[in-house]
Amino acid sequence: MPAIISIKNLSKTYANGFSALKNVSLEIEKGEIIALLGPNGAGKTTLISIVCGIASPTGGSVLVGGHDVVQDFRHTRGMIGLVPQELTTDMFETVFNTVSFSRGLNGKKHDPVLIEKILRSLTLWDKRDNALRELSGGMKRRVMIAKALSHEPDILFLDEPTAGVDVSLRKEMWQLVEELRATGVTIILTTHYIDEAQQIADRIGIINHGELLLVEEKQALMRKLGRKELILDLATPLDAIPAALSDYALTLSEDGRQIIYGYDAGSNHGGISGILSAIEAAGVSFTDLATRQTSLEDIFVSLIGDK
Ligand SMILES: Nc1ncnc2c1ncn2[C@@H]1O[C@H](COP(=O)(O)OP(=O)(O)O)[C@@H](O)[C@H]1O
Ligand SMILES: [Mg+2]
Repeated sequence: MPAIISIKNLSKTYANGFSALKNVSLEIEKGEIIALLGPNGAGKTTLISIVCGIASPTGGSVLVGGHDVVQDFRHTRGMIGLVPQELTTDMFETVFNTVSFSRGLNGKKHDPVLIEKILRSLTLWDKRDNALRELSGGMKRRVMIAKALSHEPDILFLDEPTAGVDVSLRKEMWQLVEELRATGVTIILTTHYIDEAQQIADRIGIINHGELLLVEEKQALMRKLGRKELILDLATPLDAIPAALSDYALTLSEDGRQIIYGYDAGSNHGGISGILSAIEAAGVSFTDLATRQTSLEDIFVSLIGDK
């Protein structure tokens, strides 16, 4: 399937000379949920702004639905709904009008039936005549999503949808994203919450200092995540793993004081008890044992380094 968004060697240097994006390439498939994970200042909003045609790239190109976002701005912008990081809208306008006007601003025909459907799906219908300033924070965020969906976009960008949001609202947002995906919308969200990326994305991209450091299927990350290690502290340091244990994929630490066995956390303890008996039978005694598991956080921290 051709990518719905194709980002090639994208760079952005702001007028003050700051390089916010460095040679970013990324293909996004129709219907997937991709999370761009990175600390504040990583370049996430800059990347989204360029794809949405709000900021101009200083190098590289972006195609949305096969059209260039600079040359074919009107077409590509029409395919995209954007929920910005900052809630910017007229707080005195009613919910219904806010969403309906937004559709008009995107050059689409007035369609009250569709607006009703969108408001109902976001449980905003009862609030349709309320001014935005009368709504709770969570409801305001829902209105922003309704606005972004009002012109029936193929692609939805959610820039930090749950930053500064309480736990129950975060769960509700995740649920909402899942429901939207079921309608076939491609969703790109940015976040600096590791668990958020892990919870709702099909793929995770890690971005830092304007560089895309890794893009990977969540399942593949989970497999890495599922790696466990059994560590045995030896009573006496060894020079090498005894030949009697060569059938097992064991590693000796550099100082010879630990034997390490890596296994898949999902695979029924990886035959640990068998290994322990074999080690004992080989005459190796240990003083302590521990297991450890790599997490997405470990991967993130090791990539981000300075955080
Ligand atoms: N208009 C601008 N001029 C100069 N620097 C900017 C501008 N907008 C953003 N930046 C800088 O670019 C970097 C990336 O910003 P941004 O894309 O907003 O990051 P994120 O969304 O990941 O927090 C930051 O260091 C920010 O200060
Ligand atoms: Mg941002």
